[in-house]
Amino acid sequence: MQVVEAQVIEVFGARIPTIGLGTMTLKEDVCVQAVKTALQLGYRHLDTAAFYGNERENGEGLRASGVNRNDVFICTKVRQGDLMPDDFARVLEQSLKNLQLPYVDLLLIHWNNPDIPLKLSVGALCKAKKDGFTKHVGVANFTTAMLDEAWAVTSEPLVCNQIEMHPFINQDKVLAASKKHGMAVVAYCPIARGKVPGAEALERIGKAHGKTSAQVSLRYLVQMGVCAIPRTATPEHLKQNLDVFDFTLSDAEMAELKKLNATNMRVVNPPHAPKWDTP
Ligand SMILES: NC(=O)c1ccc[n+]([C@@H]2O[C@H](COP(=O)([O-])OP(=O)(O)OC[C@H]3O[C@@H](n4cnc5c(N)ncnc54)[C@H](OP(=O)(O)O)[C@@H]3O)[C@@H](O)[C@H]2O)c1
Repeated sequence: MQVVEAQVIEVFGARIPTIGLGTMTLKEDVCVQAVKTALQLGYRHLDTAAFYGNERENGEGLRASGVNRNDVFICTKVRQGDLMPDDFARVLEQSLKNLQLPYVDLLLIHWNNPDIPLKLSVGALCKAKKDGFTKHVGVANFTTAMLDEAWAVTSEPLVCNQIEMHPFINQDKVLAASKKHGMAVVAYCPIARGKVPGAEALERIGKAHGKTSAQVSLRYLVQMGVCAIPRTATPEHLKQNLDVFDFTLSDAEMAELKKLNATNMRVVNPPHAPKWDTP
């Protein structure tokens, strides 16, 4: 049975394609080819960051794909060391030069910097939107408390919180807080950075649907109303990761996957991470 459902999540006028291509660690021609192939396969959402060192390759892949730029939702991010307004403006200008684009669709604060007041960093983010360098703004790795603080000072809607999500982590609190603010949630590490393939429950559930464990993980997120940005440069995996809209996980299967949240496996936890919400 063909399941018809939104493949775009719309918040505050931002139309975010549910599945995007994560590009962290993809470098040089591998990145160009992955972006080009993904767009030709039907992806319409790219995730890069100044920190990834591949904005130039994302732009190159976009142009090589032949897909109209206006049909693609492009996200980049400003890292925590560059959140003072002058630095912010300077690095954003460089990001746009790298991408060879006049604007992106979504600009995120990559990680908060506790030494810089949110009034300044969020102010710089909002200015980028007012100046026309991004269509929408948002945050990544924000906790429930940080979301409340950011919303208290922002002049523009923060359309998303990009956070780690997969079956092996419980993000219920920050998910609820993001939704309370009307934000979309974009799941990074949606395949738990390669820990999903081989996981017994996901393999078994996948088999029952004629799908892979990676597709089950993505479908679990999609059914929770979350966008996901899996990263791969492998053409077969690129295809599989987009092909998650023609099956539905049952309530029992969703509940079984939800139980795996207790594994409490956080893949991304650098020294500059905030004090995360506890499950
Ligand atoms: N905001 C932040 O702080 C933040 C942090 C981390 C990541 N991100 C973003 O989120 C994106 C995704 O996260 P991630 O790259 O860390 O991890 P991920 O997407 O969860 O995992 C990537 C790994 O999964 C494998 N994979 C992908 N599709 C597969 C499939 N269909 N079947 C089997 N294996 C598959 C890839 O291997 P193959 O190459 O062999 O396919 C790769 O080893 C990043 O690229 C980045 O854009 C953001």
